Amino acid sequence: MSKVILVTGSSKGLGLAIAKELAKNGFSVILNGRDGASLQNAFTQLPSQEKHSLFCHDLTKEDAIEALDAFLKAHAISLYGVVHNLGGKVKDDVQPLHVKTLQASMRLNVEVGIEINNRMIPRMIAQGGGKIVHIGSSAAFNGNASPAYAISKGALHTYVKNSARYYAKENIMMCAVVPSILEHEGSEWSAKRMNEPQKYETRKAQMPLGRFAMPEEIAPYVSALFSIESMQATGSIIALEGGV
Ligand SMILES: NC(=O)c1ccc[n+]([C@@H]2O[C@H](COP(=O)([O-])OP(=O)(O)OC[C@H]3O[C@@H](n4cnc5c(N)ncnc54)[C@H](OP(=O)(O)O)[C@@H]3O)[C@@H](O)[C@H]2O)c1
Repeated sequence: MSKVILVTGSSKGLGLAIAKELAKNGFSVILNGRDGASLQNAFTQLPSQEKHSLFCHDLTKEDAIEALDAFLKAHAISLYGVVHNLGGKVKDDVQPLHVKTLQASMRLNVEVGIEINNRMIPRMIAQGGGKIVHIGSSAAFNGNASPAYAISKGALHTYVKNSARYYAKENIMMCAVVPSILEHEGSEWSAKRMNEPQKYETRKAQMPLGRFAMPEEIAPYVSALFSIESMQATGSIIALEGGV
C-alpha cells in the first residue's frame, strides 16, 4: 500500500507541482481545491490515477475539518503526511492594515493548517509517526509583501518551530519549505507581468537568478522530505530562495 499524503490547495501552482512529484515518487495523493473542474483537470495530470483521490472543499469554511474527516472515513484513508500548501494573499491586504484583513489572512495561511494538524497528528502518532510540511514564504523574513500575508507567514514559521519541538519524540516530522516569488500560470506575479509590467521587471531584476522560481523547482525538495527516512529536518525552516 502506498503512503497517502494530503496536499491542500493543489489544483494548480505549487500544490499541483508537489502532488505530481509525490505521485511520481510512489505516494498516493489527495488533491484539494474549491473548484471541481480545476481539480478534475489536475487529477488527469497525475500518473497512476487509481491511487489518488480528490477532496473538493473550501478549507477556510467552519465545516471543513468535519468534511475532511468524513471524506477520509468514507475512503478508509489513514494519512501518512500533509503538505499544507494552501495560502496566499486575501483581499484588501494593504497598509494601513485592518484587523479583519489580518484575521482572514491568519485563517487562510495559519489556522486551517493548525486545525488539520490537531485532528490528524494524534492518528499519525497512533500509527507510529508521520510527516507534515508547511509552505511558508520569504515574505516572513523580509516583510517585502502585503502586510497580512507577511505577518501570517511569520506566525506560520514560528508555529512550525514550536510544534516540531513538541511532537519530535512522537516521530512527527514537521518543517516549512520557504520559496521566494513563484511564477506560474495564474500566479500573482504572472498577473503583474501583464498588469504592472514595470513593477514586474524591477522585482525580477532584483532576483539573483534574474528570474522568479517555477513550482517544478521547489516540488522535488518537498517530495524528498517524505521519501528520506530521517527526522533531522524537523523544526527546520528550509529556505529555497534562489539566492535572495
Ligand atoms: N506565488 C508566490 O509567489 C509564492 C511565493 C512564496 C510562497 N508562496 C506560497 O506557496 C503556496 C502556493 O502558492 P501558489 O502561488 O501556487 O498558489 P495559487 O496558484 O494561488 O493556488 C492556490 C491553490 O489553492 C486552492 N485554494 C485557494 N483557496 C482555497 C480554499 N479556501 N480551500 C481550498 N483550496 C483553495 C486553489 O484552487 P481553487 O481556487 O479552485 O480553490 C489552488 O489550487 C502558498 O502557501 C503561498 O503562500 C507563494
